Amino acid sequence: MSSNKSLLILPGDGIGPEVMDQVVRVADWFGRERAVKFDLDDGMVGGAALDAEGTAMPDAVMAKARASDAVMFGAVGGPKWDANPFHLKPEQGLLRLRKELDLFANLRPALCFEALAEASSLKADLVSGLDIVIVRELTGGGSFSETVADGNRKGVDTQLYTTPEIHRIARVAFDLARKRRNLVHSSEKSNVMHTGVLWREEVTAIHEAEFSDVELRHILADNCAMQLVRAPKQFDVIVTDNLFGDMLSDVAAMLTGSLGMLPSASLGAEDPATGKRHALYEPVHGSAPDIAGQGVANPLASILSFAMALRYSFDLGEEADMVEAAVAGVLADGLRTGDLAQANTQRVNTAEMGDAVLRGMEKAAG
Ligand code: IPM
Ligand code: MG
Repeated sequence: MSSNKSLLILPGDGIGPEVMDQVVRVADWFGRERAVKFDLDDGMVGGAALDAEGTAMPDAVMAKARASDAVMFGAVGGPKWDANPFHLKPEQGLLRLRKELDLFANLRPALCFEALAEASSLKADLVSGLDIVIVRELTGGGSFSETVADGNRKGVDTQLYTTPEIHRIARVAFDLARKRRNLVHSSEKSNVMHTGVLWREEVTAIHEAEFSDVELRHILADNCAMQLVRAPKQFDVIVTDNLFGDMLSDVAAMLTGSLGMLPSASLGAEDPATGKRHALYEPVHGSAPDIAGQGVANPLASILSFAMALRYSFDLGEEADMVEAAVAGVLADGLRTGDLAQANTQRVNTAEMGDAVLRGMEKAAG
């Protein structure tokens, strides 16, 4: 059976290729066992592409990304390229994807699996049952950056937001909240930033006009960071700009026990003609050069990102549930990669974690 579910795998650098291998295994499993077939293709991005082709995002890979239903992205960056000039940094590959596919809505769920409540750096009762989503604006914000040399060197990053940019990300957050606990915190710095004032006013306008059934609370971004580590369960959906979202999502990640657990989805606008949207799915953890190449990285954030792809790009909610249940089961069975290691748990490597997830899915499939 052929399918029109095209999936582009971009492993990238560091632990990216190791964790993406496990995603491919899960995708193949669906083709084999459930007749849900994905047309897989891959490409180079980040430092790997820089080394091979002199650019972090080759045009040919960009074209593939544009043509595919969903992109699974590993990670980019590493010490080898740290001193590169800006336009030759591995991160530019990811930024080009986000910009050119207009992936403005970045969903970063932070869900604490029961078995990991003890692994959080916070007390278990503060994070047990935690289920929040950060909705990060992903294509605007610090849009104009340069280094100016006029005797003294100056670095300049200009934060700029327009009302349409704020409206569309606000709508994503309110829509999502309606399917959850109906609460949105909008986070900015309206006490010191003009974009913050605009953000607050425009989120409020959309709320009044279209979503007054959802509860909206405004919170300054610094206070939001503090509240996330003080009492994270007060949140449901947090909507925020590109820069604050970058930071707040790292904070939220650690609440769940490990940065190695957090998936994300970056979604574009729906094409009114086809109903399709560009989408990229990636683990939040990054390339982790310190453990790259050892086969010990935690593949669960990537596998959970694939579950998000099943849900948001392919409308396969049941299959997504299966993957998530298998991950929860593996953790409940006490299997842990190094980042999650605790007393009385069994240490496994990347491939063994992949094996265990596949076994869990097999069991669920009967
Ligand atoms: C993230 C990362 C990226 C970002 C980098 C790799 C460009 O930190 O996705 O959170 O800053 O957005
Ligand atoms: Mg980040």
